[in-house]
Amino acid sequence: MNLQNRTILITGGSAGIGLAFALKFAELGNEVIVTGRRQRVLEEVKAKYPKLHTIQSDVADPAQIAGLAARVKADLPKLDVLMNNAGIMLYKNLRAPATDLAALMTEVNINVGGVIGMTSAFIDILTANKGTVINVSSALAFVPLPAAPIYSATKAAIHSYTQSLRFQLEESGVEIIELMPPAVKTDMTAALPEGAISLITTDELVKQSFASLKAGALEIRPGQSKTLARMRRLAPDFINGQLWKASRKLVPVAVGQAG
Ligand SMILES: NC(=O)c1ccc[n+]([C@@H]2O[C@H](COP(=O)([O-])OP(=O)(O)OC[C@H]3O[C@@H](n4cnc5c(N)ncnc54)[C@H](OP(=O)(O)O)[C@@H]3O)[C@@H](O)[C@H]2O)c1
Repeated sequence: MNLQNRTILITGGSAGIGLAFALKFAELGNEVIVTGRRQRVLEEVKAKYPKLHTIQSDVADPAQIAGLAARVKADLPKLDVLMNNAGIMLYKNLRAPATDLAALMTEVNINVGGVIGMTSAFIDILTANKGTVINVSSALAFVPLPAAPIYSATKAAIHSYTQSLRFQLEESGVEIIELMPPAVKTDMTAALPEGAISLITTDELVKQSFASLKAGALEIRPGQSKTLARMRRLAPDFINGQLWKASRKLVPVAVGQAG
């Protein structure tokens, strides 16, 4: 991937991995726009890093995606990179019936619906500008973390979708990249018990990922992500069991359930 003179939109760029990538892209001289749902957090980001453009937008809301696309195409017609990074992870107890079936789909709507909707809304400008899509899935696309079952399924879905996208766009001049981070120390992983799963810092993720981006990699598996992919091939039962062991304490206890 060419890392300079780009205009880059990063969903969920107000914190964690998205913000770390935004700052690195900005440091390399690129124009960077970050989005998120919370206006207050975006204002804090803007105050701290005035070079970043911030726009409030929820990837789970098709009307907000359409509004964002119209605004960016009008104001920033050189946009040529979309990083679909916004995501959430929830721990779920699958043994208990959900009290709210619609709420059960939140991760699907953000992690899958958001990526599909944003890609569709921006594919015309990305094609016109011979751009790049970076979809952020996860090492959990290979091996689920059973305490976060819906989240893990959404990341497997993004891995599949990204491969199809790459095939369909192979003669369009649009480059399709998938970033599959291992566990990274961000707000998302704050509830993980100390030592249960080893975490890398966003700095380390950025360092490894940018080396791969620079080298032209299309599927980027930093740190333990590579190991998980290999283990999934060599010893699937073992590695699936290990992730269950590491995460079972995170399954919420349901009312009236002994565990
Ligand atoms: N951390 C890890 O260990 C890890 C590992 C593998 C993959 N990933 C993936 O990396 C991506 C970033 O994760 P992270 O760890 O950096 O999470 P994070 O620190 O919790 O940050 C998530 C960002 O996404 C935004 N966001 C959440 N829902 C959104 C929505 N509906 N529309 C727009 N923005 C939204 C958040 O801002 P608002 O809340 O204000 O909207 C925030 O800016 C996610 O796709 C995650 O699945 C993370």
